Amino acid sequence: MKIAIAIDGPAGAGKSTIAKIIANKFNLMYINTGFMYRAVTLKALRNNISASNIDKICTLIQNTDIYFEGDDLILDGENVSHYLTMPNISKNVSSFASISEIRKKLVKEMQKMAEKYDVIMDGRDIGTVVLKNAKYKFFLTATAEERATRRYDELLKKGLQVSYDEILEDIKKRDYLDTNRDVDPLKKAKDAIEIDTTGLGIEDVANKISQYIERR
Ligand code: CDP
Repeated sequence: MKIAIAIDGPAGAGKSTIAKIIANKFNLMYINTGFMYRAVTLKALRNNISASNIDKICTLIQNTDIYFEGDDLILDGENVSHYLTMPNISKNVSSFASISEIRKKLVKEMQKMAEKYDVIMDGRDIGTVVLKNAKYKFFLTATAEERATRRYDELLKKGLQVSYDEILEDIKKRDYLDTNRDVDPLKKAKDAIEIDTTGLGIEDVANKISQYIERR
């Protein structure tokens, strides 16, 4: 059986950084499922399709090809990784991610990857829906303020002009939308190990997770 590790939690909890470290350590394929929702959002925005236009969204999603090349996401043949973390995508992604037609297609793609490879996936519904039977499930949290600070520092490092207040507002809004949507909302799987990362460094969290994995 393939190895599957699920990491869920709200925006900025450190999921992707931790997942990459664990992927390297245990030789797993890292799948950033947020990137997949972000790519669909990018495509919809480029085509001026709003999240309320379900007919157009259905056509769009049926004609969308997404795959990973290492850490890069290839959307319809184009490497779009650079665009995916832009504030405009962050602002809009949760509206598109609440559409069940989009989720159905992307969840299927994620499950296909998990059938083929040993994976670590991060997202919102990995432990509850995508990899329900995963042996290892983690749920990372931190206060909204700490998560906003981390995201702020990350975007500054990329050379983007951003406001901390706007990032905090975006994170709180996304937390609300992701937690309260009808389809596959963000919630801790009953069998997931919760780690509050507030005040913890990346290495501390990665070590905790590694220890859990090695113990089982
Ligand atoms: O990196 P960050 O935590 O900011 O977010 P992300 O993992 O890139 O996910 C972006 C958005 O995609 C989330 O706010 C969710 O709305 C959606 N998402 C989801 O619904 N289900 C997933 N498995 C992954 C992401």
